[in-house]
Amino acid sequence: MSVVIRSIASYIPRNRVSNEELAVKLDTTDEWIRSHTGIGARHIADQGVMTSDMAADAARQAMEKARIGPHDIDLIVVATATPDYFGFPSTACIVQDKIGAYGCTAFDVVAGCTGFIYALDIASAMLDARHGRHALVIGAEQLSRVVDWSDRSTAVLFGDGAGAAVLSRIDEPGRGCLSFILGAEGSGAKDLYLVQAARTDAYARETPMVPVIAMNGKKVYDFAVKSITVLIERIMHATVYKLEDFSWIIPHQANARIVQAAGKRFGIPAEKFYLNMDEYANTSAASIPLALAEMEGKGLLKTNDLIMLLGFGAGLTYGAAVIRW
Ligand code: ACO
Repeated sequence: MSVVIRSIASYIPRNRVSNEELAVKLDTTDEWIRSHTGIGARHIADQGVMTSDMAADAARQAMEKARIGPHDIDLIVVATATPDYFGFPSTACIVQDKIGAYGCTAFDVVAGCTGFIYALDIASAMLDARHGRHALVIGAEQLSRVVDWSDRSTAVLFGDGAGAAVLSRIDEPGRGCLSFILGAEGSGAKDLYLVQAARTDAYARETPMVPVIAMNGKKVYDFAVKSITVLIERIMHATVYKLEDFSWIIPHQANARIVQAAGKRFGIPAEKFYLNMDEYANTSAASIPLALAEMEGKGLLKTNDLIMLLGFGAGLTYGAAVIRW
């Protein structure tokens, strides 16, 4: 038995905001953003489009590619830090209704930017334990809703989007999700979190407080480099695979410098890492499935390719997955 990623698809908002456009309203430059992060643009969801809308769109495309219908889905797991409703109901339940997957199990996972890897591990373990045959694992974020657009140190980093994978249990050993490592360092919870901030815009009277991202950039940077390094070491130690066995390493798309620093320590050639933050910025839990969907669209993922997913983010959390495509 194996649990495989049978299809992958994404939703990218039409509204593209380049660094230059951002620099019109914010004291920043394209040069600073590119040189410090590798980010060139981000896509922002239209007014009225919720996280569940983006998730449902990506899910419908993924089901179509997998040639299965909503009635075939047994489980929906949505990884998100920006749910439609804070607290409840889960965004997964709203997605279930929007795609018509009536009755299936549905819940959210909150693990910041590591959310997709957490969700993948949980869903594949559930399918492996025969709690269903097909699952939708979705990373979806509307970070534009929680970005403080007047804070140049965070506003330049984030974007919106969603990626969805159909996971299926099949009778072919040695394929799909082979190994996971998950972890967290809760002592760093306040290095990256949502704070309630007073609103100063036109809506301040109706909604005086809004949640916005607060981040200790340096601490998160150091944590991210350490996490990627430790995760690669642990994969080398705990599995039979060597670095040269991997066709691709797909990291969470936060900052190209973080990836380059970790890659340097192991002498990994830069081309082994797939990076697309240049176009989409950091879309948190959506960043890895967005990258996978883009790679698949470009024909970069071949059957039997061994790939490594690496994540780190709010929590602070970290995680890795080894997948035979
Ligand atoms: N444009 C221009 N100047 C800026 C900007 C900007 N957008 N942002 C900060 N600066 C200035 C600062 O004010 C500072 O100026 P000063 O020296 O006069 O005080 C200078 O640039 C350097 O600022 P630093 O914060 O030291 O810049 P650094 O090189 O550390 O880069 C960054 C900041 C990019 C945020 C980096 O720390 C980083 O990438 N951290 C990790 C962030 C991250 O990945 N977060 C997401 C985690 S995943 C998740 O779960 C969401």
